[in-house]
Amino acid sequence: MCGIVGYHGHRKPKDIILDGLKTLEYRGYDSAGVAIFDHGQVKRIRAEGKLSKLESQLQSLDFDGRTGIGHTRWATHGTPSERNAHPHTVDGISIVHNGIIENYLEIRDYLLAMGRKISSDTDSELVAHLIAMEVPKTKDLLGAILNIIPKLEGAYSIVVIWDQKADEIVSFKSGPPLILGIGEKEHIIASDIQAIVPYTKNIIYLEDHEIAQIKGQHYTIYNSKGEVLKKPIVEMHWTVDRARKQGYPHFMLKEIYEQPRTVAAVVKPFISLDTETLDFSNLQKNSTIPDLESELQKLERLVIIGCGTSYYAGLTAEYFIEKIAQIPVEVELASEFRYRNPFLPKNTMVLFISQSGETADTVAALRKVKDMGFYTMSLCNVPHSTIDREAHVRMYMNCDAEVGVASTKAFTASIAFLNIFSLYLGKLKNKVNVAAEKSHVRDVMDLPAQMEKALSYADFFKDHAESLKTFKGFLFIGRGVSYPIALEGALKLKEITYLHSEGYAAGEMKHGPIALVDNKMCVIAIAPKDELFEKTISNVEELNARGANIVSLGTGQNEKLKRLSQQGYLALPDAHWSLTPILSVIPLQLMAYHLSNSLGYDVDQPRNLAKSVTVE
Ligand code: AGP
Repeated sequence: MCGIVGYHGHRKPKDIILDGLKTLEYRGYDSAGVAIFDHGQVKRIRAEGKLSKLESQLQSLDFDGRTGIGHTRWATHGTPSERNAHPHTVDGISIVHNGIIENYLEIRDYLLAMGRKISSDTDSELVAHLIAMEVPKTKDLLGAILNIIPKLEGAYSIVVIWDQKADEIVSFKSGPPLILGIGEKEHIIASDIQAIVPYTKNIIYLEDHEIAQIKGQHYTIYNSKGEVLKKPIVEMHWTVDRARKQGYPHFMLKEIYEQPRTVAAVVKPFISLDTETLDFSNLQKNSTIPDLESELQKLERLVIIGCGTSYYAGLTAEYFIEKIAQIPVEVELASEFRYRNPFLPKNTMVLFISQSGETADTVAALRKVKDMGFYTMSLCNVPHSTIDREAHVRMYMNCDAEVGVASTKAFTASIAFLNIFSLYLGKLKNKVNVAAEKSHVRDVMDLPAQMEKALSYADFFKDHAESLKTFKGFLFIGRGVSYPIALEGALKLKEITYLHSEGYAAGEMKHGPIALVDNKMCVIAIAPKDELFEKTISNVEELNARGANIVSLGTGQNEKLKRLSQQGYLALPDAHWSLTPILSVIPLQLMAYHLSNSLGYDVDQPRNLAKSVTVE
């Protein structure tokens, strides 16, 4: 989604805003712009395309003011163009906006009836008009904004400056994140922590319907009634380096190679290394449920909700939890669940998985479940994100900033955490004895080393990218816990190579998809040595008999599978059945990465996609 940066302080804003927007490029965008004070006026420069175009226009310009705002736009209303780029300026009011004003047609009709001249196709410009019409009455920006907020419907984060007040920025939100950075004699307001980290670690997360006013060297937070709020300042410990590529050509590749470390990091707080047993005693610390353990002991059903890769992490966890803890699990797409009338029996808890913690559908589903009176848990990667703050129990992927739009380390961190969480639930339900627990924990501790082996297949996909990318389509197949990995592998490939790919339960081939198969189709078979292996290999034989080009992932040297896999056989290390998904997904991530690279696409910022889908 859109990137927002606003600055007021003792420094010149241009470079701070541009550098901030660069850290938000991964969010995906198609145009950019700034509005910065210069000699008592607000100068606005906008450009279609990448930030480099805007940067070249700004190179020769020096703004003497100390206040400015900037924006990278991911088009929702109106084509990507300079005319539709933000900031939008109307009668001295300049705004940048992330989100969607859902009643924009009604507002547009009202403004046209009032004789306003509307110059763009965006919903954002309309907000600038509303403020510009209000400010002559209130004579101040904050008052004007308080008066127009009730007129807005939808999800939005908005930052405003007024050319009559060279030391003031007012921001407000309902939905997409807005974070206030509190520095030494300077403040920065942004849609993502990464734009703030270089200047200060002291931040305030704006909640919905709160307004932040930066005025001179001070800031004040108000509620929608204009009452002053005391908000805690949070100290974030992310350093800039962590959010940089650290020598890799792309964030995605860096994040793929970080996985052995991030998987180790996510499980470490819950394993007692000397006894090789679990230790979830810290979970209560992140819970508003008075006695979390007894609630979990009473658990009779777990619903898991997410979108995209996070949804696939939930589908994977379903196999762990049902088999290890013997608790019924259902996994739901947030975008479907939020509009259904779901029935949830008593002693049900709902787990929300979201890397960003800001996905609009998942936020809405969380709020729906809380309104229904059920306990909620979150598994997020961004502390203090909306989902993290609003769930009753907060759990973390703990894998640092994931910048590549295609999720990799957050997925394996989610699965690793949910794997040991299912073991913990199994213990609470007396389904797991100490010996089984120790054996499972040892397997988890061996996992990072085994992941290094799976990473060695990078060369295979680098060498085979040219031939693989010529196929008309890709079918990823798996059974049992490998089925969600097939779905995830297909998603990785389609989102960064734009090649058509589908994930399927291998047992479904005869129910239709096998009609797709001929010698122009590539099949990726995920077939680890588990209780379903024989079933999967018979599916591979059927596909091979129809000319499919097959790449297989198996356990160790499996001659039978190798013979059927004329496009390649990848031997994965032997591991606990519930840990194989973390191993088998790594070659699929590398496949997508190397094919995308070979096609010359923007791996970190694929077309049409955004890292965090903060609008419906
Ligand atoms: C995954 O590679 C995609 N970027 C996308 O499916 C993503 O997983 C989905 O939008 C959910 O995001 P979240 O985990 O931040 O909620």
